[in-house]
Amino acid sequence: MSEDQFRKHLRAYVERCQRAGIEFVPRPRTAAVENNETTPVTLFADQPPVTSATVEERRKALQLLADEVKSCTKCKELAATRTQTVFGVGPVDPDVCFIGEAPGADEDRQGEPFVGAAGQLLNRIIAACGMKREEVFICNILRCRPPGNRTPRADEAANCRPFLERTLELVRPRFIVCLGASAANYLLDSKLSIGKMRGKFYDYRGIPVLCTFHPAYLLRNNTPEPRRQVWEDMKLLLTRMGRPIPEVRRGPS
Ligand code: URA
Repeated sequence: MSEDQFRKHLRAYVERCQRAGIEFVPRPRTAAVENNETTPVTLFADQPPVTSATVEERRKALQLLADEVKSCTKCKELAATRTQTVFGVGPVDPDVCFIGEAPGADEDRQGEPFVGAAGQLLNRIIAACGMKREEVFICNILRCRPPGNRTPRADEAANCRPFLERTLELVRPRFIVCLGASAANYLLDSKLSIGKMRGKFYDYRGIPVLCTFHPAYLLRNNTPEPRRQVWEDMKLLLTRMGRPIPEVRRGPS
């Protein structure tokens, strides 16, 4: 690529970022580690870096991002088959952000993540942890429903990744819970099975991440063991959060 072409691509990229409300890009991890720095690089001199943005500014930027997502057509098949995009729901600065795989038929119809059968079970898991759905943030690796609910492809996850990263930057959850292998693998760039990944904490840009089974898997595999394991994972989360573990007779069912 010539220098001119590179400049053109870079300019287009920066303009896309600006339209999405992106104010800074973090330094590449290695440079930050080498220089022992954690401060973000300011991309637009006239805007405050997101680290100093107020709650209101971040809420607004999140709305701008949701609008940008609505018009995204990077994944041609998904854009052609979706009813609507499904951005994410919940407050900024939550204790927990749950990340699923992709919207299903109910979510595609209603425009909100986890509103179908898996969502009902997720609500019970959240309640069993002593939290309310309204106090956590919920989103997916993909913002569009893959036809027939197939597993998201790597190129689709890569296309949607900037939206996920920006969402997490603006929402700033204290903890992240990945529901199922797609969320765990794509967020943490891993190829391990969810059975191997669950039960311990990982790091995403300084945020502790716990991985556990997807509620849809619990519904398909109606045996006590995976439910017990999800509850073990949630107890791990609550302990790390410093929250009490509510009495639950046999885990969320
Ligand atoms: N499954 C997911 O992974 N996400 C949803 O939003 C619904 C079902």
